[in-house]
Amino acid sequence: MMHVHPTPAEAAEHCAKYLAQIIEDAIHERGRADVALSGGSTPKLMFQYLVREKVDWSKVRLYQVDERGVPPGHPVSNSTMIEEHLLQPAEIDAENFHRIQGELHATDAAMRYAEVLRHDFGPDPVFDAILCGVGPDAHTASLFPGDPLVLDRTGLVSATWVEKMSQWRITVLPRILLLARQILVLAAGTDKATAIRMVFDDATPDLDAPAKILLHGSGLTHWFLDHDAGPHE
Ligand code: 6PG
Repeated sequence: MMHVHPTPAEAAEHCAKYLAQIIEDAIHERGRADVALSGGSTPKLMFQYLVREKVDWSKVRLYQVDERGVPPGHPVSNSTMIEEHLLQPAEIDAENFHRIQGELHATDAAMRYAEVLRHDFGPDPVFDAILCGVGPDAHTASLFPGDPLVLDRTGLVSATWVEKMSQWRITVLPRILLLARQILVLAAGTDKATAIRMVFDDATPDLDAPAKILLHGSGLTHWFLDHDAGPHE
């Protein structure tokens, strides 16, 4: 389902309210909510609204979608962004956040994170909600165009070298995204418009626009876009 709002703030606010509702419903139905969060910059605005929502964070397990191969505290660390913009303002206990250990060698970090997911969920980790962004090149998580991992449907987590960023990344694999009960995609700005158009163009192969994976999930996918990122006739 597509939700296009006039501004990035309105898209972020609606995404936050929807995520808070998913969490409340999951806690009501199963006593707990499991949520995986992407990094980058877009979530920061959404987190500002999310921390205002009435959420019983003691019943929420937070995980990461992906991480850069850097230690906590590094300027591009996703776990540090999540801690600074969500955990601290919402006073969420650090024990409720299961971060990817970006400080380790990427393949070790990926192996350990997969072990955590298998321990916490079993062989088929099903999240109540996964927050995804979209890069200007239509990547999502750390699944970039041309990376064979985009077509992987068996693994849980992998390390991958992103040449154009000269950066190691650790990312959940498509199977995790496809198993989610709900996926919330938040994207704003004119620099995302081409990527969104590619995603919704049937002729575009998944390998060219990895965010297309988000269309194939077994659960519900909600696209929260601002006017600039949204499709234009
Ligand atoms: C990351 C994210 C990535 C992000 C997109 C959009 O580690 O960068 O997980 O998938 O969602 O790159 O990034 P922005 O929100 O910064 O535009």
